[in-house]
Amino acid sequence: MRWNRNLYRLYRSAPVPPADATLEPALPYANGWYLAALSHHVTPHRPLAVRIAQEDLLLTRTSNGTVRALRPYCPHLGAHLGVMGTYQKGQVRCGFHGMTFDLTDGSCVASPYGRTKGRLALLPAHESGAAVWVWYSQAGTPPYFDVPDMSTTGWSTPVAATFDIATHPQIIMENAVDEQHFVHLHRFTHPPGEITYCGPTIKLKLRLDRSLPFGYDFRLLFDGEIHGLGLGLSNFLFPDGSRVRLIISAVPIAPWRTRFWITHSAKLKSGPASRPASWLAARIMQALVCNDVHADLPVWHFQRYQHPPRLSAGDGPIGPYRQWAQQFYEGGASSKDLQSGH
Ligand code: FES
Ligand SMILES: [Fe+2]
Repeated sequence: MRWNRNLYRLYRSAPVPPADATLEPALPYANGWYLAALSHHVTPHRPLAVRIAQEDLLLTRTSNGTVRALRPYCPHLGAHLGVMGTYQKGQVRCGFHGMTFDLTDGSCVASPYGRTKGRLALLPAHESGAAVWVWYSQAGTPPYFDVPDMSTTGWSTPVAATFDIATHPQIIMENAVDEQHFVHLHRFTHPPGEITYCGPTIKLKLRLDRSLPFGYDFRLLFDGEIHGLGLGLSNFLFPDGSRVRLIISAVPIAPWRTRFWITHSAKLKSGPASRPASWLAARIMQALVCNDVHADLPVWHFQRYQHPPRLSAGDGPIGPYRQWAQQFYEGGASSKDLQSGH
C-alpha cells in the first residue's frame, strides 16, 4: 500500500530507532478480539495465514461457510497445514501422513492407517462488519465479551489500510480519550466529549471542530465505541440518513509491534447511484481519517510507555482509561470491579 511505503521510508530515515528496538515491552499481550482479515479474503479452499501475538494462524471456512481460525500445526507430527494441508468440504487433509481433520471441531475423521486422538487447535473466531475477528488470550481464557453486531447488508465492501507500528494496542486506543492531543496534534478545537465506561466497552461522543482556510469550518461528530483494546467502531451519520462506518483494530503481532487497521464502508440512501456513491464516500472518509492518523504514527512508533504518566489538570481521562484497560490482562481488574467504580 502506498501509505505504508511512504511511512516505511519516513521511519527508516528517522534519526532514532523505533521503540521496539530500544525499549523493553512495557505491557504484555492483552486478551481481546482482533481483526485477523477482511471477510472476502477468507475462502474455504486456500487458508490465509495471519499472525497474532507472535503466533501463526490459518483462516479458512467450513462447508457451510463458517469461518475457522486454527493453529497451523498438525496434531500428529506437526506438519504445517498452511503448506501441507488440502482444504475441501470443511475438512483439511495433511499431506505428511494423510490424516484428515474436521474443521467444525478439529477432530480427526479419517486416516489411511488409524486416526489420532489429537485435535486441531481452533481459536474462537467471529465474522462481523465484513471482517474476521479472532479471540486471543495468553492463558487460553474463553471470550468474556462479544464482538458487536455489525451488519453488512447494504454496506459497501470495506476499503482498508494497515500500518505496522512499534507500539501496543493500549496506546493506540488511549488516543480516543487523550483530549488535548486532538487540539495540539490534530488541530481540532475540541470541547470535552462524553466518555462512558461500561464493562469491556467505552462509549464516546466527541465533537471535533476544525477551522479551514477562507473561513470554512469542518465539524466531525464522532459517536464511537471501543470493545477491548483491539476493536473500535464509529458511525458518521449524514442528514439524509446515509452512513459511513469506520472500524479500526490494533492487532499485536510481536512484542511492542502492532498492526493497525483502518477500514471504512458506506451505506448511502438507495437510488441508482448508491453503489458507486457508497464506494466513493468510503474512500473519501478513508483518505481523511488516514491523513489524520499520519500525525499519530510517528508519536506511537517512537514513544515510551510513560507509567505513571505526569498528567496536568487539562488532560483527558487517561487514568480511568488505564484502569479500565487492566481487565484485559491476565490477573488484571475484573470488569465487575470496574463497573462498580473501583
Ligand atoms: S503430521 Fe500430519 S498426518 Fe502426520
Ligand atoms: Fe490521534
